Amino acid sequence: MHADQPDVVVGARRNSPLVIGLGEGENFLGSDVAAFVEYTRHAMEIGQDQLVTIRPDSVEVVDFAGQPVTPTTFEVDWDASAAEKGGWSSFMAKEISEEPEAVAKTIIGRVHDGLVDLPEVTALGPEVLSSIDRVLIIACGTAAYAGLVGKYAIEQWSRIPVDVELAHEFRYREPVLSPNTLVVSISQSGETMDTLMAVKYAREKGARTLSICNTQGATIPRESDAVVYTHAGPEVAVASTKAFVAQITAIYLLGLQLGQVRGTLSPERARGLVAELQAVPDKLSDVLAVGERIKELAHWMADTRSVLFLGRHVGYPVALEGALKLKELAYIHAEGFAAGELKHGPIALIEPGQVVFVIVPSPRDPNSLHAKVVSNIQEIRARGARVIAIAEEGDVAVLPHADEVIRIPLASPFFEPLLAVVPLHIFGMELAAAKGLDVDQPRNLAKSVTVE
Ligand code: AGP
Repeated sequence: MHADQPDVVVGARRNSPLVIGLGEGENFLGSDVAAFVEYTRHAMEIGQDQLVTIRPDSVEVVDFAGQPVTPTTFEVDWDASAAEKGGWSSFMAKEISEEPEAVAKTIIGRVHDGLVDLPEVTALGPEVLSSIDRVLIIACGTAAYAGLVGKYAIEQWSRIPVDVELAHEFRYREPVLSPNTLVVSISQSGETMDTLMAVKYAREKGARTLSICNTQGATIPRESDAVVYTHAGPEVAVASTKAFVAQITAIYLLGLQLGQVRGTLSPERARGLVAELQAVPDKLSDVLAVGERIKELAHWMADTRSVLFLGRHVGYPVALEGALKLKELAYIHAEGFAAGELKHGPIALIEPGQVVFVIVPSPRDPNSLHAKVVSNIQEIRARGARVIAIAEEGDVAVLPHADEVIRIPLASPFFEPLLAVVPLHIFGMELAAAKGLDVDQPRNLAKSVTVE
């Protein structure tokens, strides 16, 4: 800004986020649409190394060489009230309550005739989609755990090998990439520098890049060949909750689309899976009812110093996510393990009174790992652990072995993570609240880590 030109604001974008709000007789610059959404929901993207000059009645964008640019405009798909607490005790409580809607809104418009229809993905072209011989998911934190859940599903449905890597580790190992590698980045903010730099690296090395992102016009989608937006609405609390279930939903849509296009999923099987995904929001609403019991548990455990989380298969990333929530919200030691790993070391941690959450797979699935997980529970119980099992309605086999059973609705294996994670989100929040901590703004953390 310049004192002699009070009606002019000039901005430039390099790596950090910048977005333009287009109003009536007024225009805005902000690092996120939340900065101006109460004034206008009409926004304009601005790209890397571009300059924008705004006046009350004009917006001009040029590149650093001064050449005019015609940016993309978009409508913000939520209003200012969505970015407010709306009477909730915290943004996190509000956002957990929105988890069913986050899944439902991420599915809307992406299913036709019972099959997934993701034009953002099919636009890459059938030859590209059929030539993909490897999927590499890169992300950080909770987003990486969503990627780990997605790994199982994409491999199962598309038969493409999938690896998941922490973005900040990815590019420093000089990974082997090719045009047949699909690098899928997952990011709620779309501004995480570790993930952004990894996407840029992957693109420079010739891989195809697809972004799963919750923030329209963010930098990472702009640096990707394709983007599948999640529609969880603004996530204000630093600890990610509704974005996590929306990210899994988006990855599942991608996996189903790949399976349909590549013929590894019959239309009948695909329709069955799509129907199960569409049934998740209602089941999530049912799970939210366990909130009061979780709150009692959390208050009873306010002084606990360590909590472990065990899971197998798609339950393993849920264990990691449950542990992360406790670390970042309640500031206590928490660790997630693959249950099968117990006997390879972690079981030495078990002593009388050690609290362990166990995500128990459904006993109904013929290939179920249920018996193995129940056996794991017996092993830790025999050493004095206090076991809180998250198990589906009607699973009676787990009852004799757990001190507490938190029930979730019936769902087939791949859809359990979306349900089992909710009690863990609530637990992290309630334990932090029981300790009098700031649930929305935990110490040392930022909502978007825009530095490497
Ligand atoms: C999750 O609760 C944390 N706030 C953090 O791990 C977060 O998931 C991670 O920093 C990635 O952020 P992004 O999804 O915006 O890229």
